[in-house]
Amino acid sequence: MKLNAILAALCAAASFNATAQGPIVIKFSHVVATDTPKGQAADRFKQLAEKATNGRVKVEVYPNSQLYKDKEELEALQLGAVQMLAPSLAKFGPLGVKEFEAFDLPYIFPSKTALYNVTEGEIGKSLMKKLEPKGITGLAFWDNGFKVMSANKPLHSPADFKGLKMRIQSSKVLDAQMRAMGANPQVLAFSEVYQALQTGVVDGTENPPSNMYTQKMHEVQKHVSISNHGYLGYAVIVNKKFWDGLPADIRAALDKAMKEATTFEKAIAQRDNDLALEAIKKAGKTEIYTLSVKEQADWRRVLLPVQKEMEGRIGKDLIQAINKEAAK
Ligand code: LMR
Repeated sequence: MKLNAILAALCAAASFNATAQGPIVIKFSHVVATDTPKGQAADRFKQLAEKATNGRVKVEVYPNSQLYKDKEELEALQLGAVQMLAPSLAKFGPLGVKEFEAFDLPYIFPSKTALYNVTEGEIGKSLMKKLEPKGITGLAFWDNGFKVMSANKPLHSPADFKGLKMRIQSSKVLDAQMRAMGANPQVLAFSEVYQALQTGVVDGTENPPSNMYTQKMHEVQKHVSISNHGYLGYAVIVNKKFWDGLPADIRAALDKAMKEATTFEKAIAQRDNDLALEAIKKAGKTEIYTLSVKEQADWRRVLLPVQKEMEGRIGKDLIQAINKEAAK
């Protein structure tokens, strides 16, 4: 074996956090509750990964922003302080990968099938490739669902949003979305949303029902509008140096575990959101309103132009390619 090959092998061996007797540890940090689609899938990945590697890998899941909150978690991954995350696709702009904000565009996906055509096809692959110069490897797309809007006043027409302070994720598309509705967008970490709503720092927000319910946002939001105006999903990512430094057999076993966890996650996402909406209704503290056909048309008229407005940031070709794929 040539000297440089030996050195490379030694570096690879040293690059992952294994010791002769201890397991390779994967710290998997995320910001949602355990009983959400992403939270359950993280736990399922842990089970599958530890079983598939006969305990040579130990996955430590840190839910609910226990270890790191929104912005911190991506920095921690790049530094190698954690090895795996599953951030919302709306949170990659600050990393310099603005194209992920295409997933935030209002009404870009008419259905989950349309979404999967994008995430499971060439567009999804090309977006994940854009993470590699940032020291990140994308492993999978996980699902959550279409978003509802909430506030302490009824949100039936776009005019109802005028002047409202609305919490958003760190996405310029979501900023443009809320401004198009006449609201004032405010980026806040997910872990800070409940208290910001409770204290009036912000008036309202958007999220799929599973996130609203598990963070108890329905206890501090009197009105929810089932608008399905936009989508929220995830990219499961790892620190690239860590991932490339794994023994090939371990990496292959983890890849298989991730595929099985992804299948599981997509199978529960819609059900969890349906159950969460039922639970919000049952709690009786929030009026749940379904937009009329005319109101839906009014929201579309106001929000669809955001796609054109964002061409300069996301890329006209990418938006056109997504719309073409989504229409299949
Ligand atoms: C949010 O910040 O609203 C969501 O991205 C949280 C999550 O990870 O689902």
